[in-house]
Amino acid sequence: MPEILPSILSADFARLGEQVAALETAGCRMLHVDVMDGHFVPNLTIGPPVVASLRKATRLTLDVHLMITDPDRYAPLFVEAGADHISVHQEACPHLDRTLKMIQGLGVRAGVVLNPATPLGTLDEVLEFVDFVLIMSVNPGFGGQKFIPYTLDKVRQLAARKRERGLRFVIEIDGGVSLGNVGEVVKAGVEWVGAGAAIFGAGNPAGTFVEMQQLAHSASMVHV
Ligand code: DX5
Ligand code: ZN
Repeated sequence: MPEILPSILSADFARLGEQVAALETAGCRMLHVDVMDGHFVPNLTIGPPVVASLRKATRLTLDVHLMITDPDRYAPLFVEAGADHISVHQEACPHLDRTLKMIQGLGVRAGVVLNPATPLGTLDEVLEFVDFVLIMSVNPGFGGQKFIPYTLDKVRQLAARKRERGLRFVIEIDGGVSLGNVGEVVKAGVEWVGAGAAIFGAGNPAGTFVEMQQLAHSASMVHV
């Protein structure tokens, strides 16, 4: 079944614990946590202390998306802080094989992320062992951007490669997902759906989460 991962980038950080607790009560199982360094992307967000605080406040799976230039150096600190998944950008990793295996060696799931304009072919060799692949559907750096439609073709092609090669990685998407397009995204083959502004920008984030989760589930039934 597809899962919606609320992205805390758009949360009210002064009320983060409260907002996360409401999502957990509503049935949320995973949170998406955006880490930005002001170098790989033109924005700054959070570091390991916030992940450590979240870890104390919730049992939800913490899906940590590193938008940073030096993931080899910082991934271990996020794992120590309590991350369950760590994803790194292909564009930031000259030694991608080594980086992904290092993350798996820390005992968490390792994901690789592709920016919209980075071709799928750059992942051919790691698809055998990576735990998940995150297709960016906006250029990373900010919440609330518009979904880039051609990225859905990348998802379809990735899902086809997964089927053809009998592989197990999970397909995630991130950026510009809303109540209006979540069904289409799931039908293309996405299993983990990141969503920030659509959930936290709503008056009732937990209620919007439930609505989005229901739309995702219905779309997956149609798909099967
Ligand atoms: C973008 C981040 C996303 C972002 C998604 O750089 O990686 O996770 O929070 O937010 P929305 O759903 O608002 O596009
Ligand atoms: Zn993200």
